[in-house]
Amino acid sequence: MLSVRNSIILRRCYSSTFQISNLASSNNSKIPSPKILKGYLDRYVVGQDIGKKVLCVAVYNHYLRINDKISKDINNKNIKDEIERIKNESSKERLNSTETIAGLKSLESQLKGKPPAIYNNKIEEDDDDLELSKSNLLILGPSGSGKTLLTTTLAKILDVPIAITDCTQLTQAGYIGEDVEICLERLLINANYNPQKAERGIIVLDEIDKLAKHNSDANVKDVSGEGVQQSLLKIIEGHKIELNVQRPIKSKDNNAPIEMKTQNFTIDTSNILFVLSGAFVGLDKIISKRIIKIKDLNNNQKSENNTTKTEQVRAVKTEEHDGKQSEHKVSVKNDNDNIQIDNKIKEVELSNGKKVSALSLTSPIDLITFGLIPELIGRVPIVTALEPLNVKDLYHILKEPKNALLHQYQYIFNQFGVQLAITQDALIKISEIALNEGTGARGLRSIMERLLLNINYECPESGISFALINKDTVESLKQTEYALASHVSVKYYTKDQEPAFINDIKLEDPELFKAMTKKLKH
Ligand SMILES: Nc1ncnc2c1ncn2[C@@H]1O[C@H](COP(=O)(O)OP(=O)(O)OP(=O)(O)O)[C@@H](O)[C@H]1O
Ligand SMILES: [Mg+2]
Repeated sequence: MLSVRNSIILRRCYSSTFQISNLASSNNSKIPSPKILKGYLDRYVVGQDIGKKVLCVAVYNHYLRINDKISKDINNKNIKDEIERIKNESSKERLNSTETIAGLKSLESQLKGKPPAIYNNKIEEDDDDLELSKSNLLILGPSGSGKTLLTTTLAKILDVPIAITDCTQLTQAGYIGEDVEICLERLLINANYNPQKAERGIIVLDEIDKLAKHNSDANVKDVSGEGVQQSLLKIIEGHKIELNVQRPIKSKDNNAPIEMKTQNFTIDTSNILFVLSGAFVGLDKIISKRIIKIKDLNNNQKSENNTTKTEQVRAVKTEEHDGKQSEHKVSVKNDNDNIQIDNKIKEVELSNGKKVSALSLTSPIDLITFGLIPELIGRVPIVTALEPLNVKDLYHILKEPKNALLHQYQYIFNQFGVQLAITQDALIKISEIALNEGTGARGLRSIMERLLLNINYECPESGISFALINKDTVESLKQTEYALASHVSVKYYTKDQEPAFINDIKLEDPELFKAMTKKLKH
């Protein structure tokens, strides 16, 4: 029979474990689900569904890993405290019964990651020993497709510190430029100089493609390209890094200037999630060449199905020897037949006839050909590509997201008392011009600037209260090849002409008219 006191101690032993596992699960409930994270991104970033999903899942799993580590650390600390407490209590009260010893043993075995006999099933034992490893992520995609926007938007909502570093500023240690440790320093600052918090953060290395190896002269040291890639390996892999950081120290006297003091920190990077992103201009061509080679090979094999094995080997060898890729025999004839340029990114036709952006087929070998070193690619297991934006996306970007360009310009015009209306036709035309310019959504802003310059010049202090921009207005930019024009055709209205303004909108764009009257009623 258990003595009453011993059974209480034993119950305490198990109840402490129960509370700890409850704590872990309550931590989990706070993690924003990938769907919630994506829902937030959807408000700012148009399209890019796959890229958003991959990023949100990576971030969600990062949270899970952190919470798992925290709850295991808390668990271990609590068990250690409980063991100490029970040992003290039993030595004071001379309780050395087998039950007390069994209780202590059970706690000690949990501490070592081995569950006590009553929990001894394989899965639990494995779970306790399991250490979740991080999955760093590479986002690639054409310029102006939303890579930086995605990561900066994410930074606003996350509960963990996040720091974005532009890799173009980095150089190898000892050379002019910033050392790679700057990304850690920024993370530490964003974590309010709390190293534990920083160790659970996210580092975004933007423009990583600019670190591609320069193949030019083997004798010249590539300190801003390959050298930086080499230096990043240690940080991305997970190491303890020493940092000397200038920290502002507030004096007690409020009027005294803020002093900067150098402080030493050690940051363990093993749990920091790294998100790499870049446009990788030219990677699509590398990929499509590779795919064509594979298709060539497959087609050759098909056509030679009737030949003997030895003959096939000889055929391939001869082809290699000739240095030709059998341009005439295969269904993929040349670059321009089956691969088209859309927003400057090549498309590749899959065997099922579907056309996809070449970037979505990126493999490690393509990244190596591009100039990233294999060791760096090996540390970034997830690769996702953003799609080139099409006219529909660009149209939505103009008017829908929070901070949409259209709202921004309407706000500015409102500041000097002008209500700006832009018809749907005009917005579509602007999107088409942006698509042709091939700079992604970035082009939208410059077209809007060119379009609105004259209106912005004419309206302030002129008695104009309303301006209507339609397709003709955008077309009038054609005279100057859509560059700045000295004049654009716009309909202006004074305050008294409001009914005419409303009536023109009703005629030109009934949807806009409906939306405006709805807004007025509210
Ligand atoms: N998918 C999108 N949804 C909404 N806005 C977008 C989207 N893509 C780009 N933009 C707009 O275009 C601008 C440029 O986008 P961003 O900086 O994210 O491009 P990027 O992909 O990082 O390009 P680069 O490779 O040239 O750095 C952003 O400020 C944003 O306003
Ligand atoms: Mg960018």
